[in-house]
Amino acid sequence: MMKELSRGDRSDAMPSIRHSFPMGLLPSGASIRSGSLYVAGVEIKRVAEEIGTPFFIYDEDHIRTTIRDAKGAFSGDIAFASKAFLCKAMAQLALEEGILLDVASMGEMYVAHAGGFPGDRMILHGNNKSDQELAFALEIGVGRIVIDSFDEIDRLESLAKADEPVSVWLRVTPGVEAHTHEYVMTGQEDTKFGFSYSAGAAEEAIELLLSSKKIRLLGLHSHIGSQIFMLDSFKAQFDVMAELIKRYGFLELNLGGGLGVAYIDGEEAPAIADWVSMAESYAKNSGLPDNLRLVLEPGRAIIARSAITVYRVGTIKRLKGIRTYVSIDGGMSDNPRPVLYESGYEAILPERMNDVSDTIYTISGKHCESGDIVVSSALLPSDLAVGELLATPVTGAYGYSMASNYNKVGRPPVIFAKDGRYRVVVRRETLGDLLRLEE
Ligand SMILES: Cc1ncc(COP(=O)(O)O)c(C=O)c1O
Repeated sequence: MMKELSRGDRSDAMPSIRHSFPMGLLPSGASIRSGSLYVAGVEIKRVAEEIGTPFFIYDEDHIRTTIRDAKGAFSGDIAFASKAFLCKAMAQLALEEGILLDVASMGEMYVAHAGGFPGDRMILHGNNKSDQELAFALEIGVGRIVIDSFDEIDRLESLAKADEPVSVWLRVTPGVEAHTHEYVMTGQEDTKFGFSYSAGAAEEAIELLLSSKKIRLLGLHSHIGSQIFMLDSFKAQFDVMAELIKRYGFLELNLGGGLGVAYIDGEEAPAIADWVSMAESYAKNSGLPDNLRLVLEPGRAIIARSAITVYRVGTIKRLKGIRTYVSIDGGMSDNPRPVLYESGYEAILPERMNDVSDTIYTISGKHCESGDIVVSSALLPSDLAVGELLATPVTGAYGYSMASNYNKVGRPPVIFAKDGRYRVVVRRETLGDLLRLEE
């Protein structure tokens, strides 16, 4: 059984005292020695002393193992959705693990390409791809461009050469309402993405593309949203897509990403291997051709749990009878998800993992916004003090990739840890970096 708990304040189902933190919310290579947290054999306290805070630390083997779990249960292709987290080191890791990359902008294509990731293993998305993006995709030979609008068909027709037809998929809106936050729901009729199945736009676009000399339509794509816990939502999506695939005899079907992950104590999400096997068995049982190429594009399910963000506590403000604010040296600029989607997170003290947690705190960021709350109800030891390290688990997805320079706060560095060693794969932004665009 999987369940998703409230995103805001702690629900009644959550503990009010904790003797040990659930290891299932930490990277799989996390361990505790004498109360101190290690990720992939690297002591968090040591990294903080050596490079300062805040920082993102990723367990490299956790990412590799998750990808292997998915690949092991699936005969199709796994494409990592790079919007969840991308830097050159991640592109290299994806290449080493033999998966594809989903990119959704010029910047994502450029960084992946700079990381040595071949264009023909990329899938390009976007509801408003520019001429520049499409031209770059053609230049580096992007494997599949996912067509999202009639305007894009016109644009691609004028950019592509007749002797080098471009391979594309069509993004279909299957009319499925996934059970998730409305801002990350994309499969319903009212959406900026794709071509509607029920309104006939998908059929019209397919017919148009099938008559093109410069564009080769090889299959279909759909993505119904993110942070989905109910596997039934994918079945409804699959049925619509299978009908179109059969009708037109396509041999490629990309079902997008969207598998949810647990962020807080008590939440349970399906395993990635179960999700990919589910897609595979839908295809087998629905009479689709045996040589159909299935593709899945998980982002969060591969990367979210592999990282934690480590901060230092700078101020504690006790408002009698109201709440206690614990302010850290980061906030909505390194993790905008709580502000955007009211997402829930937990907090831990990496130097005191064995201490009993029995007091609720509000973990606030350092930005000039009352709403800059990173964890609305964190269960931590009662004697939490200024100067301690505090970390938020499950921040590997949509944290660094959505980070900003709000209040001219520099973005934290990204660390990859493996076998007791760590390397900085993206350095900390400096004050100089904040001025580098100024004329
Ligand atoms: C087209 C597409 N594919 C895959 C993903 C990855 O989603 P998730 O990280 O929820 O798996 C997204 C997320 O927005 C998306 O838009």
